[in-house]
Amino acid sequence: MSSPSSLLSARIKAVAGIEPELRPATKPQFGHYQSNVALRLANSERKSPREVAADIVARLDIADLCEPPEIAGPGFINFRLRTEVLAQAVTDQLADPHAGVSQVSKPAVVVIDYSAPNVAKQMHVGHLRSTVIGDCLRRVIGGVGHQVIAQNHIGDWGTQFGMLVEQILDEGIDASSLTLPEAEELYARASAHFRAEKEFADRARSRVVALQSGDELTRDIWHQLINISLAGFNAAYRRMGVLLTDDDLAGESTYNDELGPLVAELERNGTAVIDDGALCVFVDGFAAPMIVRKRDGGFGYAATDLAAIRRRVRDLHANRIIYVVDARQSDHFDLLFAVARKAGFLPDEVTTEHVAFGTVLGTDGKPFKTREGTAVNLNTLLDAAEEQAAPPVALAAIKYADLSNGLNKDYVFDVSRMVQTTGNTGPYLQYAHARVTQVLRKAAARGYGEQSKVLVLEEAAEQTLALLLIRFGDVVDEVVRTLQPHRLCNYLYELSGALAIFYEQCPVLQSSGAVRDSRLALCSATKRVLAAGLTMLGIEPLERM
Ligand code: ARG
Repeated sequence: MSSPSSLLSARIKAVAGIEPELRPATKPQFGHYQSNVALRLANSERKSPREVAADIVARLDIADLCEPPEIAGPGFINFRLRTEVLAQAVTDQLADPHAGVSQVSKPAVVVIDYSAPNVAKQMHVGHLRSTVIGDCLRRVIGGVGHQVIAQNHIGDWGTQFGMLVEQILDEGIDASSLTLPEAEELYARASAHFRAEKEFADRARSRVVALQSGDELTRDIWHQLINISLAGFNAAYRRMGVLLTDDDLAGESTYNDELGPLVAELERNGTAVIDDGALCVFVDGFAAPMIVRKRDGGFGYAATDLAAIRRRVRDLHANRIIYVVDARQSDHFDLLFAVARKAGFLPDEVTTEHVAFGTVLGTDGKPFKTREGTAVNLNTLLDAAEEQAAPPVALAAIKYADLSNGLNKDYVFDVSRMVQTTGNTGPYLQYAHARVTQVLRKAAARGYGEQSKVLVLEEAAEQTLALLLIRFGDVVDEVVRTLQPHRLCNYLYELSGALAIFYEQCPVLQSSGAVRDSRLALCSATKRVLAAGLTMLGIEPLERM
């Protein structure tokens, strides 16, 4: 479906020669869209921006779409859609199966690495953020027709398994009967033991070797730890209502067999060099190298990530790889991407992006911790929110708080604010959806079923609402491009606000004839966009509240 704004863009581009970069007008008196194309061209054309603007306007043939454009300020061009064009666009959107989200003509393969909790530990707040943000990006990017491949890079390998297995054997417990919180307690006991007793530490180290060489008993216990952890993760994913399943698992351990040969190849072709006993890849512009093989011969997090990039490009055919991971790992990813390019695993045309997110803070402004001082897990967060709201509303509150701020910023976990049904919150958007659903329900009950195909947009509030509705596809595209879910949040918030003003100024059920039909159609269109937008955020659009 081509929206009026994309048609308009194409016409302007044909005349100006460059992308007009249409923006929604900042004030109603500036029309509907604004372009700064003349300001950008003025220098090279050696004319004043206003002259360039006048020249473009004179050559534009857009009378079928717009009112005559106006030149404003230093040389902006303001456009106002003709009312019937706006009305038709809403009608088209109502008939479009994708609610105005245009589908890409060439789907790309987009790998999203997110969630990635660690075995024998509960998901902490950072994994929750990754899970919520990754789930949203998956829905948005999939929503425009790209092929999304989720990769849950769980931490299921590493030296910590030596001490975990050894502790289990010492205590004589059956690992398969542990719950995830119990496994986490075991982890704490094992770490303390490791620090306190040299003899235990030595046994734990030999146990790592036994695990690596495939010793059966060791592998069995390791498997049991993974299984009970996955049960815990899956329970958390269900409670959160996210799309992740076991099909998305691609844990660190799945790269084991590739690490030796991969690193040997880097050494052979000179990409990696021995430095102080460790095998390192140095990249210009980076203070420290990537250590791909430690002095003791072990491989770590970095080597595993290198193998993961290679698999994603070579076997999954990724065109774009997205990592949704805590901002504290930014340096790791910068270096990883550079090393992968240098090693030839990452062709120029494949893009990699680290979607870095900040820390969740308590109302005291410090990193959010439980009363006992441990990192907060999902159940604690949800329990806190569910003390104040029903489960789907509590979930919406938490997810929206996570998504509606700039991701890079730390944000304060303030449950009582997050669950409010007023202000820029998830529950407010759910409420807007439930309210418009109720209007439509009442209309249907009164037999007002037939909604008009031809909208009457006489009131300013109707026009504002219509204009926002047809922007939905552009906003979704922006999120696909920028990976910034808060843009979708802000848009839905703005839409809900416009809906509230529309109710205030334009009676729906109290009106009659063509006006009522048209207003009901606007309500239907708004409900669809709110539902589609909320679903993309991973938030349930409630029918009643
Ligand atoms: N398991 C890691 C952690 O808890 C996150 C992994 C992120 N993904 C990756 N490919 N490194 O910090």
